[in-house]
Amino acid sequence: MQFERVGVGVVGAGNISDQYLSHLTTFPDFDVLFVADLDAERAASQAKKYGVPASGSLAELLTNDRIQLVINLTIPAAHVEVSLAALNRGKHVWSEKPMALDRSGAAQLLETAKKNGVRLGIAPDTFLGAGIQTGLNAIRSGSIGKPLTALTIFQTAGPDSWHPDPAFLFAKGAGPLFDMGPYYVTTLVQIFGKATRVTATSSKSQENRTVGSGPKKGTSFPVEEPTQITALIEFASGASAVSIFSFEAAHEVTGFVEITGSEGAITLPDPNNFDGESVMYQAGQEQKKLTAVGNKHGRGLGALNMMQSFLAGDDHIASANLGNHVLDILISISESAARKESVAVVSNIDKNAALDPDWDPLRRSS
Ligand SMILES: NC(=O)c1ccc[n+]([C@@H]2O[C@H](COP(=O)([O-])OP(=O)(O)OC[C@H]3O[C@@H](n4cnc5c(N)ncnc54)[C@H](O)[C@@H]3O)[C@@H](O)[C@H]2O)c1
Repeated sequence: MQFERVGVGVVGAGNISDQYLSHLTTFPDFDVLFVADLDAERAASQAKKYGVPASGSLAELLTNDRIQLVINLTIPAAHVEVSLAALNRGKHVWSEKPMALDRSGAAQLLETAKKNGVRLGIAPDTFLGAGIQTGLNAIRSGSIGKPLTALTIFQTAGPDSWHPDPAFLFAKGAGPLFDMGPYYVTTLVQIFGKATRVTATSSKSQENRTVGSGPKKGTSFPVEEPTQITALIEFASGASAVSIFSFEAAHEVTGFVEITGSEGAITLPDPNNFDGESVMYQAGQEQKKLTAVGNKHGRGLGALNMMQSFLAGDDHIASANLGNHVLDILISISESAARKESVAVVSNIDKNAALDPDWDPLRRSS
């Protein structure tokens, strides 16, 4: 017997909503029923663009009993409030990252989802795409032996030169660590498992930056978060990773993820993308490119995996515990750099699960 299509409501009709709505509206297991935003016109315009039948406020969305899943695409500062409101109405929630700005907000979300018997899933879901999944499967099959160390690099000059309104990317809760860190650290946790300790340094070269494009060009805004972070992350397995997150680099290097194992090394594609090539290295042999195998869909995959898993009675992959552990690592990195000492990471994750490479998000579940 086929289950009823899952009624979906999207909150937050901003920049990233196009990527979500363009995929969510193509999944046959989902029925996108509502788009909500503080800005009613923006919500209405996105609903119209994607053929969603209704739009309005979050309060209106929450009173719709057909909506079982809320996709929270609001700004980080609103994530906890919006997710809690939905969880407390007995709705499942998929939230963009970071799930909360601090550990207590994240803990409240985990408890509320549990209390209400509903699912909570946390972005990113880029690692469910063919690109990273192909690399993860190669590592899981033992092709580099035991994974021992990693190097990840995300460094740019910062988005202030091209973004028309970049202040929020330098405000508390953002910066390169919290904005880009989730992609890299989620991938590392998928490979190495639970982190136990971090040691980090951070700096910023400017107290203020200037908007470089658009109507606000030439205006200045405060830099609240460090713009250069180097972190050493230690894992319970004994493995370790060095990660660089920077908005201070004239030499742009992004999406660099190299894993070295006892019998080889592999570079993975950009963890902020769903596709891309992994490359294998074995001493004395030619490098080997791996063609990405798996689904080539985009944002929304994590929410679909969550609801299909819920209906099948299985665990979902981009889980609340995974999101919470990644946030805990990022906060610990920030604390370590500020306090100039190592910080223990105490949160836990469930066992990492592999995604079926034959999973087709466009196939209706039975
Ligand atoms: N823009 C990107 O490229 C990108 C990529 C990946 C993830 N994200 C994540 O997606 C989230 C949203 O980013 P964005 O770039 O779309 O931001 P945005 O500022 O463009 O859009 C956010 C929208 O949420 C609405 N909103 C804020 N608080 C609300 C509330 N309480 N109730 C209802 N609506 C509310 C705003 O009015 C706005 O329309 C962030 O968490 C960000 O980290 C963004």
